[in-house]
Amino acid sequence: METSADISHLPLPPGSSGLPLLGETLAFIQNTGKFVEDRRLLHGDVFRSHVLGDPIVFLLGPEANRWIFAGENKYLRNRWHLAARKLLGKQSVAMLNGGDHLDRRRLLAPHFTYAAMRHFVPRIEAIVQRHCEQWLSGTQPFKAVDAVRALVFEVAIVLMMGESQVDPAYMSRLFKQWVAGLFAAVPVDLPFTAFGRGVAAEKELRAYIDSLVAEREKRTEQPPDTLGSLLSARDEQGRPLSRDAIIDELELLLFAGHDTTVTATSNLMMLLAQYPEVLERCRREQQELAEQGPLTLESLRAMPYLHQVIQEVMRFIPPIAGAFRVTTEDVSYGGYRIPKGWQVSLNIRAAHKGAPWTSPERFDPERMGPDRCEQKPQGAYIPFGGGPRVCVGQHFAMVEMAAVAALLLRDYQWELVPGQDLSPIPFPIPLPRDGLLVRFSRR
Ligand code: HEM
Repeated sequence: METSADISHLPLPPGSSGLPLLGETLAFIQNTGKFVEDRRLLHGDVFRSHVLGDPIVFLLGPEANRWIFAGENKYLRNRWHLAARKLLGKQSVAMLNGGDHLDRRRLLAPHFTYAAMRHFVPRIEAIVQRHCEQWLSGTQPFKAVDAVRALVFEVAIVLMMGESQVDPAYMSRLFKQWVAGLFAAVPVDLPFTAFGRGVAAEKELRAYIDSLVAEREKRTEQPPDTLGSLLSARDEQGRPLSRDAIIDELELLLFAGHDTTVTATSNLMMLLAQYPEVLERCRREQQELAEQGPLTLESLRAMPYLHQVIQEVMRFIPPIAGAFRVTTEDVSYGGYRIPKGWQVSLNIRAAHKGAPWTSPERFDPERMGPDRCEQKPQGAYIPFGGGPRVCVGQHFAMVEMAAVAALLLRDYQWELVPGQDLSPIPFPIPLPRDGLLVRFSRR
């Protein structure tokens, strides 16, 4: 990287700023994947535009991703879109920067290690079995996305505040309304706008979580859920986190972990149904393990093929297409100048659909296996991001998805209802458009 003094002669990246004020926002929101692909064909892996209120540079490919990860807190900082900046708590890990961000990551880290997932596995198993019984007894066919949504929400509540008396259905209704506000294109706070309804829902959700936190503060010993860790945490001066910071964090964790896991799990169900030979191989892997009794962290580890499949599902349809950063000084990349204050797009989808992947449009779990061992330079496979902001909940997500899939594969079967639209919605997350209609039965 050159310093700002000697890069003033460099040109801006090629591209267009679009219309005054609006820039190219409409085309970007309508179909982000196509927007990027069209411009990549025209300009190559570095181009500029103007979306969501600010100039932006798109940097595509593994090398660009490594540059973005390396730039965190140096020449880049995190940047959320306007609605999220207004609706996500300012004291949550995703909104913090610099030293405060690192401190919060340190605080959360022990709770989210792979080993820490051990005591959640039996609880996840119990929740999955109960939900599957409900799926069997309800109307057939049903929308698997909605069913998975309810399941994943309950699992998240157990992780976050499993030792509290929580009403998941009430929380889930508020949560859904809040998240719809977070992705509102126009963040205007009026009672009839999605954003306005999101503001109201967040207020109610906050009050509800506040009452749960107040109840838990009375306990002398905190149980081992996220809320317990947040309540027990002390900074270097021995001070606890404020009540607001705790609520901001719990809400953020729910938000960051929910739709992502729902998307990946739903797409896993869809692709298993579409690729019978992959499904059969997964079932064969489960046969022996099923005889060993309930799931454990060790048995989940002994499912290499299922893990390959989950990894390929997230390469093929990344639950998060990308993220944004903003430059904190003039910087150069690829022979171009990127001025201070410009947005920088981290593009996960482009990384998964370009070189070095061979035939990236083919769903092929073999490519994740040890014997094919496709060359994967750092930055080419990043479903959970990378660098200092790599996903906090990646182990939790992997354990949860493997547990759900293993239990479904062992005892159940599901068929996709013909004639439905399975194409992914382009924004904000790539769920199957018609909600993945399935007929579900016991094997
Ligand atoms: C399949 C499921 C998931 C996927 C694909 C996923 C993906 C990601 C990605 C790509 C990022 C980086 C965003 C950036 O660079 O700005 C991220 C960050 C984050 N994820 Fe996840 N995630 C998943 C599940 C979860 C779960 C279950 C949790 C929590 C229980 C979680 C908590 C977070 C948090 C807190 C951050 C922000 C980290 C920070 O800013 O330092 N995620 N996730």
